[in-house]
Amino acid sequence: MSSLPQILREKLTATPAGRLPFAQVMELALYHPDHGYYGAGPRKIGRQGDFFTSVSVGPLFGKLLAMSAIQEWQAQGEPDNFTLIEQGAHDGQLADDVLSALDGTPLRYLIVEPNPKYRDAQARRLGDRVEWVESLAALKTGPRHGFFLCNELPDAFPVHLVRWNGERWEELFVETDGTEAFRLIPGDCSTEDLAEEVRHLPHDLETGHTLEINLAMLTWIRDLAQAAFRGTIFIADYGLDAEEFYADSRVSGTIRRYRQHQMDGQILANLGQCDLTTHINFTRLIDEALRHGLTQREYDLQGRLLGRMAMKWIQSLEGRPPDAATMRQFNSLTHPALMGKSFRCLVLEKPVLP
Ligand SMILES: C[S@@+](CC[C@H](N)C(=O)[O-])C[C@H]1O[C@@H](n2cnc3c(N)ncnc32)[C@H](O)[C@@H]1O
Repeated sequence: MSSLPQILREKLTATPAGRLPFAQVMELALYHPDHGYYGAGPRKIGRQGDFFTSVSVGPLFGKLLAMSAIQEWQAQGEPDNFTLIEQGAHDGQLADDVLSALDGTPLRYLIVEPNPKYRDAQARRLGDRVEWVESLAALKTGPRHGFFLCNELPDAFPVHLVRWNGERWEELFVETDGTEAFRLIPGDCSTEDLAEEVRHLPHDLETGHTLEINLAMLTWIRDLAQAAFRGTIFIADYGLDAEEFYADSRVSGTIRRYRQHQMDGQILANLGQCDLTTHINFTRLIDEALRHGLTQREYDLQGRLLGRMAMKWIQSLEGRPPDAATMRQFNSLTHPALMGKSFRCLVLEKPVLP
């Protein structure tokens, strides 16, 4: 059985220039249906996996989202077609946590899931409590009142890499280094969309400064803005504002590979066996969201935003302290040294149907 590096070598040989944009290699490494890190089926996330997410911390994250969705449903006059829509649902853990916390409130739950292996895993966990669509474009049965949620989705999209050569930005391509390994080489931008994005990048960076361009994120937010629901969009992910994203200290960009809770910049090693991920440029995401008719309700550090979302939950405890496990989850999600500062939450409003 061939491995992902072998598959990549064959692809590179079949390409006239012997090289591929990094984004295509990242797509293969993450989403090849048999050998991709994610493509092959949902892996364990959390202590036994390669990284933690707010979902793997415990059910509190889902509970806070469920309480927000209920508030939203009530504010809209309790419509009977109010639907929670999740994308990037992985093994269904967040859906399970949210549904359990809905406590009988009659909200529907729909998962946007293109990969049948994930859909099967989600179905085993969630049974008939959820429905599925393959893509945002397949959400045709509107008008619905929706509450869209995703945790750590756009950080898993394949990105292009670009490097400042002192005079201009160049795209980075992958080629074999003549042995078993791969290397990055610079060249002209492979698409007009990328060239257009690059035109807006700063020019006052040090030679060699490398950045990621997440074109897939821009397409995704446009698709979300045009999807058949109106309501709220909640996006949580690790990310930065533009000035942090372009800071001199981030000369190698934010792309990293993760394995067994170790993180490094060896992004062409062990392809398919490690997670590859980047920080979100939230400034760019918000610009594009507004350009497509979404409006910004809140954007804040996860610690602060979840802290505000938790007020209703804290009130419901009527002075009783939460149990120790829930307190630990609250601390992990909100403490600035844990997930409270590096993770950000963006809440958008989607006022109209397309
Ligand atoms: C970093 S994991 C996060 C999983 C989960 N949301 C959590 O927080 O634990 C990213 C997930 O996004 C999924 N994903 C990537 N692109 C997707 C897409 N276009 N539609 C749905 N899921 C996608 C991957 O398969 C993977 O399960």
